[in-house]
Amino acid sequence: MLKGKKILLGVTGSIAAYKAAYLVRLLVKEQCEVKVLMTKSAQDFITPLTLSTLSKNPVNCETFDKTSGQWNSHIDLGYWADVFLIAPATASSLAKIAIGMADNLLVATYLAARCPVWIAPAMDVDMFRHEATKSNIQTLRNRGVHIIEPASGELASGLIGEGRMEEPDVIVKELKDFFSKKKNS
Ligand SMILES: Cc1cc2nc3c(=O)[nH]c(=O)nc-3n(C[C@H](O)[C@H](O)[C@H](O)COP(=O)(O)O)c2cc1C
Repeated sequence: MLKGKKILLGVTGSIAAYKAAYLVRLLVKEQCEVKVLMTKSAQDFITPLTLSTLSKNPVNCETFDKTSGQWNSHIDLGYWADVFLIAPATASSLAKIAIGMADNLLVATYLAARCPVWIAPAMDVDMFRHEATKSNIQTLRNRGVHIIEPASGELASGLIGEGRMEEPDVIVKELKDFFSKKKNS
């Protein structure tokens, strides 16, 4: 069902960023074409080299290259994608996306994207339960963004509760179901 789909994966600076590697592998196994965008902070958690190797495409991190002046077109990336999946999405990126604060390539691309957007939040339980986060998520839902609810369980902080990014195989299944319903409608 996902064969040939162009998936733009946005990775932000959560401890769950390691799951992005497996997510890319699963999507490539489904014969998707995968391009990855990373925030600056995401690169502290997982390297662009890992994700470019697994996706078989260069990873985009910056709006432009400071030495060559070459710039990445967020418009092109947004138009290219059949789906923009942001996983994991931090509280900070959710907030920026909700208010349209395009101070990085990932958020600029979100604003330019014409495809369906899927977001998998990942954060500590108190961050997830905070009114600010809840309100940002509701804003995105109202706008038609598909929110992949985080699971409940043990978190990297040692706390227990909601906030764990959903597992990559569950995310891939949600995308498959989406395209399957679309095909049948
Ligand atoms: C070890 C560590 C783990 C973190 N994990 C998360 C997380 O899971 N979710 C979150 O919202 N922020 C987390 N943060 C904070 C973000 O990295 C920070 O807010 C950052 O500015 C997010 O930037 P970005 O959204 O542009 O990628 C973590 C920070 C550290 C040091």
